Amino acid sequence: MEALLQRIEALKTEISSFVAAKADDTEAFRIKYLGTKGLVKEVMGEMKNVPVERKKEFGQLLNEFKLFAEAKYGELQTVTDATQTNAENSTFDWSLPGDPLREGSRHPISLVRNQVVSIFQRLGFAVAEGPEIEDDWHNFTALNMPENHTARDMQDTFYISQNPDWILRTHTSSVQVREMEKGKLPIRIICPGRVYRNETISARAHCFFHQVEGLYIAENVSFADLKQTLYFFVQEMFGKDFKVRFRPSYFPFTEPSAEMDISCLICGGTGCNVCKHTGWVEILGCGMVHPNLLENCGIDSNKYTGFAFGMGIERITMLKYQIKDLRLFSENDVRFLKQFSAAT
Ligand code: PHE
Repeated sequence: MEALLQRIEALKTEISSFVAAKADDTEAFRIKYLGTKGLVKEVMGEMKNVPVERKKEFGQLLNEFKLFAEAKYGELQTVTDATQTNAENSTFDWSLPGDPLREGSRHPISLVRNQVVSIFQRLGFAVAEGPEIEDDWHNFTALNMPENHTARDMQDTFYISQNPDWILRTHTSSVQVREMEKGKLPIRIICPGRVYRNETISARAHCFFHQVEGLYIAENVSFADLKQTLYFFVQEMFGKDFKVRFRPSYFPFTEPSAEMDISCLICGGTGCNVCKHTGWVEILGCGMVHPNLLENCGIDSNKYTGFAFGMGIERITMLKYQIKDLRLFSENDVRFLKQFSAAT
């Protein structure tokens, strides 16, 4: 009788794992197990060989087995019937054209950042990145702005309350320090990234914005190299239809320092709100790397010289696309954003 018991168990396992994808499969199941010549009937037929004293026990077992197979058949029917009804009753017209995928556009800040990066890459600059949460050393002290240096006030800083040494970087010059500390010379990098300053939000300023800063350190780098590099950059960026001027300026990390202005592309130099009626717009700060910086980062300032520059991407984008209010960049208004191409 053990053989019969095993047979029933084996059939039960087989039945449980049966799957039907369509009505035909369900019918095949019925024929195989529940049909007049099916396996259930066949096993039930074994009852005649069961000795009298075990008839009750086996009667119950076989009955359960039959119910089990019938229940499974019921399940299969529900599944395959539903599939069939769905297919038959579906009113969906498969020949309809698809919904067009709406193409997004790149954010103007990304477009201009990519463009700036590609112009400098053509000159052999590599991209370097660093953390947005910085320590005092990389953002200030190493850049020739020791504690209590008045120049720290030029950039209103956000401090992080958990640790007085941590700040949100106010410029990507901090990335330049990190690169100089690595000590691999020459260095020719640009550092694109987001920076933070505690400024009142207006049409011209925001508490966060984007910069690309550049650094070139090698032997015999001169101010003439700096000027030529930046002339090349503005011509590639804005074309040739404008004037450029360098103005002496002050930054603690460069000496001498300058700012570069271009004639206002919005009013053509006649005076408007963007150029504050001067006809000129400042687009970047620059200068020769202060020897203290090189020494702070372990670079021999007698052997190496370098130049650095830094610009705000928002400002460049406003000039390029004639945008008068910087707040538009962070409002996420699709009517504004969709005006820019999807290209890189
Ligand atoms: N770090 C300066 C700023 O954020 C820009 C700058 C960089 C100026 C390099 C000179 C040289 O304002």
